Amino acid sequence: MTDFIQVATLDDVAPGKMFRVELDGRRILLANTNGTIYACDEMCTHEDFSLALGALQGDCLKCSLHGSRFDLKTGKALDEPAEEDLAVYPVKVEDNSIFVAIG
Ligand code: FES
Repeated sequence: MTDFIQVATLDDVAPGKMFRVELDGRRILLANTNGTIYACDEMCTHEDFSLALGALQGDCLKCSLHGSRFDLKTGKALDEPAEEDLAVYPVKVEDNSIFVAIG
């Protein structure tokens, strides 16, 4: 069974913004694209660089170091130089609370 854990509230991550959280020692990035909350690993799969410094483009997250984009729904790496997909996690929103499952 998947355990959802509360990591933030909707107030923490406004539309168009990202918010860093830590869950079980893992650095997770929450992203709000037009009211949809996504959760993914914070670090780019290309190099050790925080995607929190990147930019949201539709349902994609673009790394600001070398420009690779990742699909926030699937984690798929859309552009080189990143070749490895990004880990994405199930998200649940209840009332004002954001829950993420990494298990
Ligand atoms: S570190 Fe993200 S694309 Fe290079």
